[in-house]
Amino acid sequence: MEGYRWKAAVVTLSDKGYAGEREDKSGPLICEMIEGSGYEVEKTVLLPDEKEEIKKCLCALCDKYGMDIIFTTGGTGFASRDCTPEATMEVAERNAPGIAEAMRLASFKVTSRAMLSRGVSVIRGKTLIINLPGSPKAVRENLEAVLPALDHGLAILTGRAGECAR
Ligand code: MTE
Repeated sequence: MEGYRWKAAVVTLSDKGYAGEREDKSGPLICEMIEGSGYEVEKTVLLPDEKEEIKKCLCALCDKYGMDIIFTTGGTGFASRDCTPEATMEVAERNAPGIAEAMRLASFKVTSRAMLSRGVSVIRGKTLIINLPGSPKAVRENLEAVLPALDHGLAILTGRAGECAR
């Protein structure tokens, strides 16, 4: 949307990242990709794969900090500790499945392993929450697929659609 920069938060979910055993490259990549597309990253968070902590963080980013959009990365796979989709669904008020569907559809053209991400896309209040997989490669491929359409969805969600020239 012309002139307005969406308030964004980027949340990395990784036990290894949180323990300092792995550098978080995916969070910074999301920041870089969205900052060039009309988003202002106001919060970045690194958390372990702990469902209650993730839920608390997502609720605060929506309800207290009033983010327009939250991107998470990591914890969407089949490992026993992966719980990002569950945490996200438990704080969700409405489902917005098309975004996750579009990401898997686009990703499936690159790798059949796209089907192994359980990531969801939902709405809480006026905040859109999107789960991305954990690897930088997957982040880039998934985000590129949906980024062009998000602006219009956010304009409608936040009630700024009237200001939207498109
Ligand atoms: N999507 C794209 N576009 N590219 C990828 O390389 N990797 C897949 C999948 N989605 C991948 C992808 C793999 S191998 C896994 S295990 C799942 O995302 C879950 O990743 P996560 O557990 O790091 O969140």
